[in-house]
Amino acid sequence: MKAEACTYVIFGATGNLSRIKLMPALYHLEAANRLPEGTRIMAVGRRPWDQSTWLAEVRAMLVSKIKADIDEAVFSRFSARLYYHQGDIGQTECYTQLAGQLANGEGFPKNIAFYLSISPSDFGAVMGFLSDNQLFDEDSGWRRVIIEKPFGYDLDSARALQKRISQYLSEEQIYRIDHYLGKGMVQNVLVFRFANVMLEPLWNRNYIDHIQITHSESIGIDSRGDYYNSAGALRDMLQSHLLQLLTLVAMEPPISMEAEALRDEKVKVLKSIRPIPKEAVHAHAFRGQYGKGHVNGEKVPGYLDETNIPANSSTETYASMKLYLDNWRWRGVPFYMRTGKRMAKAQSSISICFRHPPLQFFHGTDVRCMNPNWVLMGIQPEECIRIEMTVKEPGLEMQTRICSLDASFRNQDEKAIDAYEDLLLDVLKGDRSLFLRFDEVEYAWRIVDPILQTWAIERDFISTYPAGSWGPEDSRLFDKESQFWRSSLTPECK
Ligand code: BG6
Repeated sequence: MKAEACTYVIFGATGNLSRIKLMPALYHLEAANRLPEGTRIMAVGRRPWDQSTWLAEVRAMLVSKIKADIDEAVFSRFSARLYYHQGDIGQTECYTQLAGQLANGEGFPKNIAFYLSISPSDFGAVMGFLSDNQLFDEDSGWRRVIIEKPFGYDLDSARALQKRISQYLSEEQIYRIDHYLGKGMVQNVLVFRFANVMLEPLWNRNYIDHIQITHSESIGIDSRGDYYNSAGALRDMLQSHLLQLLTLVAMEPPISMEAEALRDEKVKVLKSIRPIPKEAVHAHAFRGQYGKGHVNGEKVPGYLDETNIPANSSTETYASMKLYLDNWRWRGVPFYMRTGKRMAKAQSSISICFRHPPLQFFHGTDVRCMNPNWVLMGIQPEECIRIEMTVKEPGLEMQTRICSLDASFRNQDEKAIDAYEDLLLDVLKGDRSLFLRFDEVEYAWRIVDPILQTWAIERDFISTYPAGSWGPEDSRLFDKESQFWRSSLTPECK
């Protein structure tokens, strides 16, 4: 698929996401000469800025994010693409003026991608305005809309939002973003599974004991108190990013890597997840909230002392969950997922624990370390694929150690690409394979809805964990005593 020139219209261009992700990603695409000739970027913001203020603003965003010096030649090419449109997104004039500006013959490409980096509560209204002002008409070029998560607040609100936006757009025009799908290592999960025939025979209930997906962050909620307190960790990370990772680990090989084929298989996984009845929520899910503690040697406040957090908040900053997939491949294999803010370390990983060998041959010897095999996939900060095996130690004794076969694949001179670079380019290509179809979002909400509803009622108590720890004690989720959270990507002898 070829990237086509377009006008990228960014709503919320002065906000946080734009500063730390979108503008740097577009700049990097410029530096890599990947933005098609003629592409323009129109920022929509409320502040009364002129063109030169906007350019200075973008430069400041890039400097604070990229740290290294800006390449002046690249910045000059990039800034020639940048425009600023001042307006209040709640007022129709903003859109009539925007439509006028885009149509005034100044060379804006006729294809338009609208990036909604705004509060989810504004999605419907903004799309209504765009539609009323004929900005979605495809008479002279395509129109695509990129929607940031969260898509809805629960199952009902997601359906209501979908109903509303499908009045204005067809599914082919909607790009629901889950930036985890743009991460290099996440895409590598598919390559690792489907380009290496060695693993496929083992990738099932006969050989795998359980699977873990962890996303831990050492940061807190920064200035996002308002949003975070109404979302919580389950909505913020588990319902979206972590369930997406689960689908990639568990899916059947798609018939092709084409968007619909891939998404069909992901939906099948989500549909096969055994629903959690409300009475079983406590056996399947756990939540916690960070108290004060130390992170990287620094004293940090507890969640309740963060800005904009009510003193009696029971919002979870840690959530863990156990799921079963009722399908042929995975029946009986637990999938454990956890995520948390202010944890000991920032790390995302998938850990696959294989079964123990059927016979323990080494009783009565000095062998002490008989771990099962693990396949470990580090998503960030370290990108790696490792397979842990038990080997005999050199020497006369029969002693073993764990040896890690390391398939880390990035050469030193190969730069990591931010997920948004990939995804912003996919929009220009019309490639929706790394974006979510509505049924994926819908099934993901179905899975977590009973937990959300139960937690919403039980507001009197929430477990706490000290900031800087690995979260609350939730080992009751595990099916067996031999199962435990795996936090390290280097060999651990248990
Ligand atoms: C976002 C969440 O979707 O993902 C944040 O809203 C979270 O709370 C972030 O910090 C994590 O993304 P990444 O790419 O930094 O792992």
